[in-house]
Amino acid sequence: MSEPKQRANSSRPTSRRSFLRSGLALGGAVGAGAFAGRAAAEMPDAKNLPPNVPEWSQSLGDGVVSRPYGRPSKFEADVVRRDVEWLTASRQSSVSFTPLHRLEGIITPNGLGFERHHGGIAEIDPAEHRLMIHGLVEKPLMLTLEDVKRFPRVNRIAFLECAANSGMEWKGAQLNGCQFTHGMIHCVMYTGVPLKRLLEEAGLKTNAKWLLPEGADASAMTRSVPIEKALDDAIVAYAMNGEALYPEHGYPLRLVLPGWQGNMWVKWLRRIKVGDEPWHTREETSKYTALLPDGQARRFTWAMDAKSIITDPSPQAPLHRKGFTVLSGLAWSGRGAIRSVDVSLDGGRNWRAARLDGPVLDKALTRFYYEFDWNGDPLLLQSRAVDETGYVQPTKAALRQHRGLNSIYHNNGIQTWHVLPNGEIENVEVA
Ligand code: MTE
Repeated sequence: MSEPKQRANSSRPTSRRSFLRSGLALGGAVGAGAFAGRAAAEMPDAKNLPPNVPEWSQSLGDGVVSRPYGRPSKFEADVVRRDVEWLTASRQSSVSFTPLHRLEGIITPNGLGFERHHGGIAEIDPAEHRLMIHGLVEKPLMLTLEDVKRFPRVNRIAFLECAANSGMEWKGAQLNGCQFTHGMIHCVMYTGVPLKRLLEEAGLKTNAKWLLPEGADASAMTRSVPIEKALDDAIVAYAMNGEALYPEHGYPLRLVLPGWQGNMWVKWLRRIKVGDEPWHTREETSKYTALLPDGQARRFTWAMDAKSIITDPSPQAPLHRKGFTVLSGLAWSGRGAIRSVDVSLDGGRNWRAARLDGPVLDKALTRFYYEFDWNGDPLLLQSRAVDETGYVQPTKAALRQHRGLNSIYHNNGIQTWHVLPNGEIENVEVA
């Protein structure tokens, strides 16, 4: 991957090298005064502090419905998706990243989930949209959105991780922030109809073994899905977090395949063809495969292996002061629930058990915490997830030993954050 360009916007990623460059350029100012500088920048206007009556208490605020669709406080304006300009040639076939370092709990708000489009966002009039189910079925179906909503519903919280998440880190530490290293993931509650129910309605023929879902966007995304997954926990969803899917996430219909790589979760779902063998589409031959050191291609790697990331502190969320520190992170597995997460402060020499908090659900994000006292010494922060199958998240070295360096996809190696004495944090690797 080429050297990233320096940017004006400091919340954008820089390479590790350019981070070091800028750190050196600022020299002693950063080294000696990061805490002091930050405190000065955050110094509030004393007129609004006790014992004074703050300005917002001195007049009436806006009335109800002044914001018919609510939005976050203007003071949270930097909590947004971001992209990496040099990564792709166009924004239509590109990716944006979830601001993991600023989120709490396990649910991603609908406006903040990363997006990955191959042909831009399709803006679909639901009245003119149909879901066709055909091929090896007894009764081909042509369903309207209203038809789909007349089937029994299910609600399910699931993470969606792009197979290319952390892909830019295969050859070494590159992007300075968990938004960019791990932000191709979101976790929402979907509402929809089990795909199994729709297939029962169509009546599968005995030789039905594979499905080909297709999107209605300009890329006409298609992937081969084995029938076992379709009959297990796949959902045709029309809502996320209680409201209709957002256009960027596939409005009005998307396929949900809990635990499996995001590329297969076809958005703007318009067609499901039933067949007896896989189609070997572009997305499962030239893309979303990995060339192993022995020249073999690793294909049909559907489930996302267990992985975790410390979201705070992290390069975009530096440490502000010494003393009691809450370390927070996320863990997930495409093969079940998270059983435990360990945290290391010294680059993997010693591990301590993190505390899981909130719901620990099958194939969903799980929040973990580790509280400790920071005395200002440098730290090498790591987290390691273990899922209910007993699988342990590997080191990056172990992953590379097995898969070589030609990969992009399925990088679930342990991430290291280097905390400097001034509280700044950088993306590094330990031997
Ligand atoms: N479906 C269609 N129709 N078109 C697409 O470009 N991108 C896929 C998948 N489904 C895509 C699609 C990829 S690569 C991923 S990772 C996920 O959607 C991203 O889902 P999101 O944009 O909701 O995060």
